[in-house]
Amino acid sequence: MEKPAVTQCIGEPTEPTNIVILGAGGDLTKRKLIPALVKMLRCGLLHPDSKIIGVLKGRTKEQWLQSLHQGMQEYAAEIIMTDQQWQKFAAMFSMVGGDLQEEQTYTELAASLQSLHKLKNALFYCAVPPRWYTTIAAGLHKVGLADESEGFRRVVIEKPFGMDLQSARQLNKDLQALLDESQIYRIDHYLGKESVQNLLVYRFTNSILEPLWNRNFIDHVQISAAESIGIEYRANYYEKSGALRDMIQSHLMQVMTLVAMEPPVEFTADAVRDEKIKVLRAVRAIEPEDIKHQAVAAQYGSGKAGDDDLKAYVAEEDVSAESVTETFAAVRFHIDNWRWQGVPFILWTGKRLPKRVSEIVIRFRKPPFNLFDTHANPPAANSLVFRVHPDEGITLRMNAKMPGLTTDTQRMIMRAPYAENGADVSDAYEVLLHDVLSGDATLFSRADEVEESWSIIEPILNDWKERISVNRYRAGSWDVAGMEELFEQCVGGWHKPS
Ligand code: BG6
Repeated sequence: MEKPAVTQCIGEPTEPTNIVILGAGGDLTKRKLIPALVKMLRCGLLHPDSKIIGVLKGRTKEQWLQSLHQGMQEYAAEIIMTDQQWQKFAAMFSMVGGDLQEEQTYTELAASLQSLHKLKNALFYCAVPPRWYTTIAAGLHKVGLADESEGFRRVVIEKPFGMDLQSARQLNKDLQALLDESQIYRIDHYLGKESVQNLLVYRFTNSILEPLWNRNFIDHVQISAAESIGIEYRANYYEKSGALRDMIQSHLMQVMTLVAMEPPVEFTADAVRDEKIKVLRAVRAIEPEDIKHQAVAAQYGSGKAGDDDLKAYVAEEDVSAESVTETFAAVRFHIDNWRWQGVPFILWTGKRLPKRVSEIVIRFRKPPFNLFDTHANPPAANSLVFRVHPDEGITLRMNAKMPGLTTDTQRMIMRAPYAENGADVSDAYEVLLHDVLSGDATLFSRADEVEESWSIIEPILNDWKERISVNRYRAGSWDVAGMEELFEQCVGGWHKPS
């Protein structure tokens, strides 16, 4: 079905705001931020009097706009836009050329905001590598742009937020010396995915789930993000990061808190985040001697996807031939509280796997007794699967009788796609930009959450730093040594997405 040119979005319109993108010449801006802003404008969620100001260097405004236009065609082709419509949108743009290290850049930015846009509200999006976050906050602070007396001033910080506990603490400390915590929006795009928010709505609006949502019925939980892509052009970042930092410490642990948290007293930023942090505090510390039983690291070797040859990680551009960086990571966590005692939460992620699928699998306990002494298919444990992407939705796996004169069982899958009839699922960046503009920090990580999640994985990071040998898997396969052992005690074992 062809998509309509103008989509209908549901949500409150936002106030006119100066949206300043620092590092606006980079990939994030053209791949994610601009398409999200176009969609928001079209459906009335972005006020037409808002302005978009790019701070970048080395390009003229025309060159910059041209690259954004190309980006729209390349990464957001589903948004049908005539040249005229693009020109109209582009009229919202202005540019400040300059180096983020120079005070002059911030002075010019402040002057441009005051003169051109009669500055009131401003959102500053740091679309830059992490080493710039504090410099930017200091620059804004120095020229008075962090001062909220005339309107709101909110600063969006991308991940990674630190590279370990110490650097995350330092970053929090530096930012909080320049900005109020309420001005800092630490973005984790997984929390903006509609299907992740749907998890909360499912949990807290369906009373049939709550009695089952605990150690009495649930055997274990798997939260995964399998990707078929490799590291693409990001070797410089990925070599220092690896899969544990890149996906588990941030996205997957955030999702874990939403699966495991108690119902908050209200749906407000602090009430939700108070419950999430309690989950992180209850995660059992992993002792160094347990790491080999509770965590798996692996790296893709060469392999195949269909007829195409896939390079090994160490053969990727800018990756050292001796690299031991993990492109696959899995960790089994235990949450020591009344609800979850004894229920493993296994988080895993990897690049160059056979499929791109992200899921939350709630695997229930086995039936206590098999009444039907069947031959072929003994009844399997039920699972409830939340598909984060693609094909967002929920499936419930049950057992049913095979047709015919038999009591043999067969698997029955009940599917509930999240969006039906071609409804538009918003991109995470649309959701999160809208939230920042509306001042809703519910889906953003608070300082204490970020520090707590780093402190949980710190022992693994330290252990893996010393690693000398590499556990290789074939690119394009699920052959990751150690995964079956990680799931040994779990009903049904490792769930590889189908
Ligand atoms: C990013 C990671 O945060 O998330 C990437 O840095 C990863 O390595 C990406 O590919 C996955 O996001 P999504 O939305 O495609 O699952």
